[in-house]
Order: sequence, then C-alpha cells, then structure tokens
Amino acid sequence: MLCPCRTHHLRLLLMLTVFFLADSSSPCMDEKQTTLSPTEVNTSQPVQTGEKVVLCCPFIPPSRVLVIVTWQIVLRDKPLCSISYKRETNETLENNCTDGRITWASRPDQSPHLQIHPVAVSHEGNYRCQMATIDGNFEHNYHLQVLVPPEVTVFPEKNRTVVCQAVAGRPAAQIFWTPEGDCAPEKQDWVNGTVTTRSTCHYPDGNVSTVTCFVSHPTGNRSLSTDLLPGAKGSEKLYYLFIIIPVILIIGFIWFLKISGYSLFHLYRKCKLKKTEATTVVEEDEMQPYASYAEKNNPLYDTVNNLR
Ligand SMILES: *[C@@H]1O[C@H](CO)[C@@H](O)[C@H](O)[C@H]1NC(C)=O
Ligand SMILES: *[C@@H]1O[C@H](CO)[C@@H](O)[C@H](O)[C@H]1NC(C)=O
Ligand SMILES: *[C@@H]1O[C@H](CO)[C@@H](O)[C@H](O)[C@H]1NC(C)=O
Ligand SMILES: *[C@@H]1O[C@H](CO)[C@@H](O)[C@H](O)[C@H]1NC(C)=O
Ligand SMILES: *[C@@H]1O[C@H](CO)[C@@H](O)[C@H](O)[C@H]1NC(C)=O
Ligand SMILES: *[C@@H]1O[C@H](CO)[C@@H](O)[C@H](O)[C@H]1NC(C)=O
Repeated sequence: MLCPCRTHHLRLLLMLTVFFLADSSSPCMDEKQTTLSPTEVNTSQPVQTGEKVVLCCPFIPPSRVLVIVTWQIVLRDKPLCSISYKRETNETLENNCTDGRITWASRPDQSPHLQIHPVAVSHEGNYRCQMATIDGNFEHNYHLQVLVPPEVTVFPEKNRTVVCQAVAGRPAAQIFWTPEGDCAPEKQDWVNGTVTTRSTCHYPDGNVSTVTCFVSHPTGNRSLSTDLLPGAKGSEKLYYLFIIIPVILIIGFIWFLKISGYSLFHLYRKCKLKKTEATTVVEEDEMQPYASYAEKNNPLYDTVNNLR
C-alpha cells in the first residue's frame, strides 16, 4: 500500500534505509496498482513515536510529464502547511511549514516523497500528495496516527490490593486481570495527547496469591505478574493489638473499680479535691459525706454521674 519505512534500532539499518531512499524512489514502486488509479485513495496508517516515516506520492508512469508536486499537511491546531516542487523551474516552495522534522525524503527533483523524522504526537494529521501532470492529476491521502507505547508497571499494595498501570500511552491501553478481582479502573489524559490507564484490584479471596495484569496496546501487549502481600491477616493482628486489647483493658479496669466499691464519680471527686485541698479545706469537709452517701445509696444518681 504505502511505504512508511520504519526505522530500526540498528544504526546500520537506518543508514542503509537512508541510502536506499536517497538513491531512488524505489520503496514506493511496489504500490503501483493502488496509486496509478486517478481516483482518490485514502490510507490510514499508524506509526510509532520516534520512528522515521516516508510518505509516498502516487507512482507516475514515465510517459506522463510532471509539472508540480505539492504536499498539503493538515495538523491539529496548526495552519495548513504546504510544500511544493515545480519541475520546470526546479524550485521548491514552502508555506506555513515550521516543523523542521517534515522534509522531502530526498532531493525533490529526484523523488517527490515526504519524510517525517522523528515522528511525534504533534505529527498526527492528514497528508496529501498532489501531482499535476500535463495529462491530469494524481493524488494520495494519508491519515497518520501516532502511537506512543505506555510504560507498564504492576505493584502490590496493602490489604491484598494490586495496582497495574500503563503510563502515557496513545491510544489509551486496556488492562485485564487474571484472575479477575474487585477492580476499579482509572484514566488520566495528559496535554500531550497521551493517556495513563490504571486499574486497582482487591482480592478478598485468600486462595489467590499471584495475579497477572495483561495490558493490551497497538504497540504491543504486555503481561506482568505479582504476588499479593499478606496484607489482610497482618493488619488484622495489628488491629487486635492496638485497638481491641486496650479497649478491653479499659473496660475491665472500670468494671473492677465498680465491683470494688468505687465509682468514676468518686474517683473524679477525689482527684479534683486533692488539687483544691489546699485552698478549700472547709468545703471538702462539708461536701464529702453527703457526696459519698448519695452515691452509694442512690443507683440513679450514680448512673447519671457516670454518664457525665
Ligand atoms: C498559511 O496559513 C494561513 C492561516 O494561518 C492560511 O490562511 C493560508 O492558507 C496558509 N497558506 C498556505 C499556502 O497553506
Ligand atoms: C535542481 O536544483 C538543485 C539545486 O537546488 C540542483 O542540485 C539540481 O541539479 C537541479 N536539478 C535539475 C534537474 O536541474
Ligand atoms: C481492605 O479492603 C476492603 C475492600 O476494599 C475494605 O472493605 C477493608 O476495609 C480494607 N481493610 C483495611 C484494613 O484497609
Ligand atoms: C506526556 O506527558 C506525560 C505527563 O506529563 C509524560 O509522562 C509523558 O512522558 C509525555 N509523553 C510524551 C510522548 O511526550
Ligand atoms: C480455595 O482452595 C481450596 C482448595 O485449593 C478449594 O477447595 C476452595 O473452594 C477454594 N476457595 C475459594 C473461595 O475459592
Ligand atoms: C494484543 O491483544 C489483543 C487482544 O486483547 C489482540 O487482539 C491483539 O492482536 C494483540 N496484539 C499483539 C500485537 O499481540
């Protein structure tokens, strides 16, 4: 169909490709059938960020005389940009094209193809090659879709919970779990057009010890496993240690005071009186017998005071 000549990580291969492209327009020759037709053909092509892409113009048989070749480029939030080459005068014209990464694939008098290197999310858009010959026009449209591989991580958290995330992917990655847990998905859009997908799963079933997160993305699928932390049991023990036991001790202490003839009110009075002893000795002598009498003999009075 078209020839998005993807770069490979090997520098040698890249150099070979560049050489090949510069040498002739041969990478585009294999699309004769589709491009020879004068009718408009659209190509929607996904490419990965950072790659080198060459977009090819329709093949024109040698019998046709080329007059002008024009690339019209429509990118999001940018004015229409056009690059053209006039055969007769051997001159190139550029209009509104400010992105230095979009260039002719080689010398325009040798080949009409367009190159984008390296491809970024901002290059997503429509590219049209129009070739005017004496006998008529040929054109080809490309819709370039730019993919960004997400950074995938999976990690366990407290309480038998696991988090799997695919950071800054384009389009948004999809997350699946094996086995399926009690999951909450999340999505976060970034201004640069990438999306972070996150899924937090809880596994209450004590049988599950290892879980696998499967991330589906057009740039490649990933599968990562992790062990669940023994969170629930550990935190339950701590819960008993730091909350339940002290509460039982306090209740037991109060109950002990109660059965041994004391009441909270009594204790309270005692403490308060100790503090004020020095200044209000007289008052203590008058109040104390009455207070202890009322408290020991009137259960209702007792309860009310306990509630205070
Ligand atoms: C350049 O951009 C302006 C808008 O900013 C647009 O009106 C004009 O048509 C563009 N020129 C070309 C040749 O595409
Ligand atoms: C077109 O111009 C370039 C320099 O801009 C020159 O190298 C090339 O030989 C010219 N091609 C033709 C066919 O005149
Ligand atoms: C553990 O997670 C479950 C379910 O999300 C929740 O109901 C429970 O309160 C959590 N326990 C602790 C100690 O966080
Ligand atoms: C997009 O933005 C996010 C958050 O700022 C960042 O993590 C990511 O690397 C960016 N990706 C690209 C391709 O610029
Ligand atoms: C846990 O595993 C045991 C044996 O492996 C099985 O009999 C039991 O049904 C499982 N429990 C749950 C809740 O899956
Ligand atoms: C990734 O997984 C999906 C299913 O979720 C599958 O349709 C697709 O072909 C896979 N892609 C690759 C590159 O393996």
